[in-house]
Amino acid sequence: MITTDERSFRLDTDCTTYLIGKTKYGHLEHIYYGNLLSKEDGVNVLAQKRSIMVGSSVLYSREDDVYSLDGMCLEWSDNGRGDYRYSPTEFKMPDGSFVTDFIYERHEILEGTVAMEAMPTAYGGDQTLIIILKDKTYPIFIDLYYTVFKQTNVISRRAVVRNEGSVPVTIRRIMSISMDLPDECFQMYTLDGGWIKEGNLHKRPVSYGITVNSSTTGASSNRHNPAFLLAEADANEDYGSVYAFNMIYSGNHYSIIEKNERDYVRVCMGINPHLFEWILSPEEKFETPECVMSYSSQGFNGTSHNMHDFINEHIVRGDYKKKERPILLNNWEAHFFDFNEGKLLRLARDAKKLGIELFVLDDGWFGDRNHDRAGLGDYRVNPKKLPDGMKAFADKIRNIGLDFGLWFEPEMVNEDSELYRSHPEYAIKLPNRHSVLGRNQLVLDLCKKEVRDYIVEQVSSILDEAKISYVKWDMNRHIAEAFSTALKNQGEFYHRYILGLYEVLTRIFGPRSHILLESCSSGGNRFDLGMLCYSPQIWASDDTDPIERLKIQAGLSYFYPQSTMGAHVSGSPHQQTLRETPLATRFHAACFGCLGYELDLKYLSPEQRKDIAEQVAFYKQYRKIFQYGRFYRVKSYKSNKVIWETVSEDKETALTGFFQTLATAAESSDKLKVIGLKKGRFTIRTRSQRLYIERFGGLIKHVAPVELNPDGVIMRVANRHYSLKDCVETYTCSSEALAAGIPLCEQFIGTGYHESIRMLGDFGSNMYITEKENEQQK
Ligand code: DGJ
Repeated sequence: MITTDERSFRLDTDCTTYLIGKTKYGHLEHIYYGNLLSKEDGVNVLAQKRSIMVGSSVLYSREDDVYSLDGMCLEWSDNGRGDYRYSPTEFKMPDGSFVTDFIYERHEILEGTVAMEAMPTAYGGDQTLIIILKDKTYPIFIDLYYTVFKQTNVISRRAVVRNEGSVPVTIRRIMSISMDLPDECFQMYTLDGGWIKEGNLHKRPVSYGITVNSSTTGASSNRHNPAFLLAEADANEDYGSVYAFNMIYSGNHYSIIEKNERDYVRVCMGINPHLFEWILSPEEKFETPECVMSYSSQGFNGTSHNMHDFINEHIVRGDYKKKERPILLNNWEAHFFDFNEGKLLRLARDAKKLGIELFVLDDGWFGDRNHDRAGLGDYRVNPKKLPDGMKAFADKIRNIGLDFGLWFEPEMVNEDSELYRSHPEYAIKLPNRHSVLGRNQLVLDLCKKEVRDYIVEQVSSILDEAKISYVKWDMNRHIAEAFSTALKNQGEFYHRYILGLYEVLTRIFGPRSHILLESCSSGGNRFDLGMLCYSPQIWASDDTDPIERLKIQAGLSYFYPQSTMGAHVSGSPHQQTLRETPLATRFHAACFGCLGYELDLKYLSPEQRKDIAEQVAFYKQYRKIFQYGRFYRVKSYKSNKVIWETVSEDKETALTGFFQTLATAAESSDKLKVIGLKKGRFTIRTRSQRLYIERFGGLIKHVAPVELNPDGVIMRVANRHYSLKDCVETYTCSSEALAAGIPLCEQFIGTGYHESIRMLGDFGSNMYITEKENEQQK
């Protein structure tokens, strides 16, 4: 666990060791982070050797010509002492300079986790090491916190600055972590994107100079998620050295990777210094967000598994921790703003018949919210839409046999709203400039106590009155003109906003832990560990096209488990891409998350209704494995395939989604690998699925007994009531054979159709169920 001696601090998890050295001048050196070392290994062998003076470098001590901070692997670093790399701090010191010299003062080891005062902290850690650094000239301290989460192979880090002097210190930058690693031909992997294309994984080599991963939008953002990987060049899903980093924070984040001329790679991560300035008065302290790190030599799946376990065990809290999530129906893509009670109840009744468990009423139920130009902020039920009020409506939904959930966007206001007319000062804007709008709305100023109180009061009263069991908390624009009349120093704005948000969420949902909170920000514009401390799941994207979801959910899966991703089956052609996709593929992609449906069920054909009812029943049967199973991105050797697998805790059941993006002509054979199972004999079978005859157009004449017009009425009616069966394969074999890969039946290539041909085409997919043979079956 955590052990120390005169020269080092050692943090062990089950499979990793993190080693910090202390130099004779009191600087902290980063010695090692990797696979678990033997007890005997220490700094003597592993510390970097310093035996030569490097030309043009600045020496820390006049007596020591090989001690230059610029050429060391450090665990923390200063400005103005000879290290020219990116410094984790930029403080304006009492003498007006930016020069600091933080050196070791003392340390403490505590059992468990040390929670922060105003920000979410991971809980349930095993031990915490606090290394206290003091500036050599001024009584200013930096406490470096390291918490070990042994079983999940995660170590968290954060820094706290304390001013024990008599004059204020201006903090222009304070990172949560800084550490230097010797280069391993690192590649950096980030999740980048934008609205409806969040979380796409990108890879770039770490080269000389600085690479930045950051957000400036006021949220963790859909542009660059805070999480990133550093991996050796040859790493793949199953092999190779990988470091994963993430941050428990929902605001502007900033990470740099800097490779210097000595081939050391610095990693810094923390609050974005962009437009940031914090005045730290005497006796005050400043807490930075907690960052989490994990290492695995088992490739990307290795660090993903660590991060998934960490989130399920130490981030998600409350009644929904490790609890199976309900299958929901959300009315947004069905209705947008155009609904009334009749439409909603019909949708809910249809949902109930299909086996759905929770009905979610999205945007448009309050004030004059009949479009996105008005009403935001006025959480009074619109009597034209729900004449008997929210409580009565919620009761009607419950009487149908469904739980009831409700949408809010509490951080925002339309200018055309009662709230704005009576309290224009609640909105973020500058008195001397015209406001810039996003989706016709302004952001409420969460730096102001009266605004926070207003939101808490408004939202809580509806939740209690209507006994709501699920909330979708939306946030649909970026912050622009960062300014609050509540602040003397506008450099504090962005961070104070996030502290305000965390306070509001704590006050509303702390006493109501029975409510399942799903956060959302135009989809995945705030998909981060900070929000996951309040909302066990997050709406991953407004993009419900499953082929886009393959990229979005796969990207997120590098850092976040399936239990955190809201994933819905919607209508096709998709509202975001105009792409047409099979219903089975929409379902199969959504299965690897918290399943929901988001389409107008009244337009479903009888055949589709049967199909969805079967999907819902299937998901319920395997829900625990879909939401909490061990997730693998299975390597595919073909670029048009995506293969996802989730395995039960006892390793006796695996569910594999086999997706084809674009079909190729005369597609060669496919193999299905099933990994992560215990040793033994297993049966693998295809989930039986329907093939809608409209998919085959004129080709149907080859199988139909009579010739039919592919666009005629008979075909359209037949398509509503009749479907073909897709190829079902069943094999029994060993876990070894499954891991090596089972060749599957050939795909359709235009030369015939029968029950042993897989009919995938563009965007087709299959789900395979692998289950251990029980004793009777043998
Ligand atoms: C954006 C969300 O991501 C959607 O799911 C929906 O809730 C709309 N906002 C409603 O305005």
